[in-house]
Formats: sequence, C-alpha cells, structure tokens
Amino acid sequence: MIQLTTEIEDNLFDTAMKAAEFSYSPYSHFRVGAAILCGDGSVVTGVNVENRSYGLTNCAERSAIFGAVSSGKRNFLAIAIATPDADYPVSPCGACRQVLSEFFAADAPIQFGNRKDNRKATTIAELFPFDALHELSR
Ligand code: THU
Repeated sequence: MIQLTTEIEDNLFDTAMKAAEFSYSPYSHFRVGAAILCGDGSVVTGVNVENRSYGLTNCAERSAIFGAVSSGKRNFLAIAIATPDADYPVSPCGACRQVLSEFFAADAPIQFGNRKDNRKATTIAELFPFDALHELSR
C-alpha cells in the first residue's frame, strides 16, 4: 500500500465524517460521507444521495468520484469513507468497488470507519481482486 502520513489519513477521515452531515438519506437514515485526496492536494467530498425510487440511490463514494471527475480531477491518491450511523466500519458496496477501481491505483490507501477510532485500512487490490483493468496494465 502507498503510505501517507497518519496526519493526512486522519484529516481525510475527519473530512469524510463532516461530509456525512450533508447526506441525503431520508429512507435509510444511514449517513455516509466520502473524501478523496486528489493529486493536486485538493480534497473532494461526496455523500449518499437517496431517492424515493430506492434503486436510484448514489453512494457517497461514487458521488465523490463523479463530483471530482466533473470538476476536471482524475488523479486520486486516497479515499476515506465514514459511516457514523453504523456500529462497525462499513465497506464500499460492489458497485462502488468497480467504480473505485476505474480511478484508484491498486495500492492506493482506502480507509473506512464508523468512528475515528474504528477504521479499516485497505486497497482496491484487496477489495476488488482479479480486476482486468489493473491486471492488464501491469
Ligand atoms: N452507502 C454508501 O453511500 N456507501 C457505502 O459504502 C455503503 C452504503 C449508502 C447507500 C444507502 O444510501 C445507505 O448507505 C444504506 O445502504
């Protein structure tokens, strides 16, 4: 895994936690926030945006990625995902793993947690193994 400083990782998680306050989740009441550290040093956040047609819900991770790409950013160094309404760290769903794999290096740090002192650190290589995009680019 690419190593960032603890301070950078902690700040990124704090930002994801803060972003979760903007979650639009009136159906699940499950707030999620994501924060991406971009190669230019900026941080882009995203939240889950639900819909009364439940299947149209967009997860926080994909909201963050789509927002960043929409503003011209594609070089992503790390992502933090905060799930403050869970009592354990909730990992990205399968759809988000696919989308994360499109933009994140296989060994980029991905952290997810429900609290600052209850986080998991992982990578796309672990979350989405045998991914053709990464394997073919070796
Ligand atoms: N959700 C995310 O935004 N990201 C995750 O990693 C887990 C799930 C959202 C989708 C839905 O709005 C709510 O959490 C409950 O599943």
